[in-house]
Amino acid sequence: LRLDKNERIVPFPDEVMARFYELLTPDAVMTYPELEPLYRKLADYLGVERDHLYLAAGSDLGIKTVYETFIDPGNRVLIHQPSYAMQQVYSKMFQAHVTEVSFDKRLTLDVEAFIDAITPETRLVVLENPNGFIGNVLPQASIRAIVEKAHRCNAIMLLDEAYYLFSGQTVQPLYLEFDNVIITRTFSKDLGAAGLRCGYLISQKHNIQFLNRVKPMYEVNNACVAFVQASLDFPQYISAFVKDVHEGLQFLRNQLENMGLTTAGGSGNFLVVYLGEDIDITSVIRHLKSRGILVRRPFQVTSLKGWLRIVAGNLEQMRRFVLAFAEGLDAAGWRADRYVLPGRA
Ligand SMILES: Cc1ncc(COP(=O)(O)O)c(C=O)c1O
Repeated sequence: LRLDKNERIVPFPDEVMARFYELLTPDAVMTYPELEPLYRKLADYLGVERDHLYLAAGSDLGIKTVYETFIDPGNRVLIHQPSYAMQQVYSKMFQAHVTEVSFDKRLTLDVEAFIDAITPETRLVVLENPNGFIGNVLPQASIRAIVEKAHRCNAIMLLDEAYYLFSGQTVQPLYLEFDNVIITRTFSKDLGAAGLRCGYLISQKHNIQFLNRVKPMYEVNNACVAFVQASLDFPQYISAFVKDVHEGLQFLRNQLENMGLTTAGGSGNFLVVYLGEDIDITSVIRHLKSRGILVRRPFQVTSLKGWLRIVAGNLEQMRRFVLAFAEGLDAAGWRADRYVLPGRA
């Protein structure tokens, strides 16, 4: 049970896999990709213009393409901490100066501080909604305020909506209103196809034209094309997957809270749970591993110390996790009365 990397763990419906294999013909293997049909199908599915889309081999590569296109050495990039680790890597790679605004120990982002950190010198502002580590969302009004300030300062606004389907929220219409907005999404999360590397960017046509200047010959491969086509042929299974994850999350949250633990986030396909800093979290993780369950190493960021991130699957998978987790906590000597949430002491 891989609960460590925010991947899909719910099995795929047979019908989707059968359509995928049907589309993945020997010809699809032999020939260079023909991406136009996928662009058109995706544009219809999302309700956007074809030329407002840019496919990428994972939203990771889409994000890198934004840096490659818009960042010159010495430019300023604003990110929140924690955020997707490659934001730091690409900032270094393209020699940008990074300003960070951290989530606090209560796992909230000071939106005013984030807005204040956007200045006329800022070239790129990165905002994840939901956040990929904590799984919480910002109010739409806060996102709008951030976008407006970035727009006034002539900064590119990269809105990372990797987990938007699980949260049921999007600020997609903002990209039509503000010409500095680029939205990034990924099929790694909402379709659960992380291994195929497929994501996309949405923005106004002139931005997409800029991105196209550094576009590789083929943005994605035919396996990705076949899988996305197959998935979009059965939209009911996309909703069913999201429903499975919601049920798993709800069960997980209830079980952990019944054990006296505090949980947070839950707007993505994962939940964070507070164990405190007294307990040996690594021994709990080792116990889970001995039961065939992987969870991420404990968070290193100061504001997230004592919190553990757990990916949600369906009910059956979450039952298996909860059982092993309770054993692991017990063995580590965890007691509800020893546990104090930061700020609530
Ligand atoms: C917030 C966020 N953005 C982007 C990505 C990159 O996803 P991918 O490259 O698989 O599309 C991730 C992956 O975990 C993520 O959590």
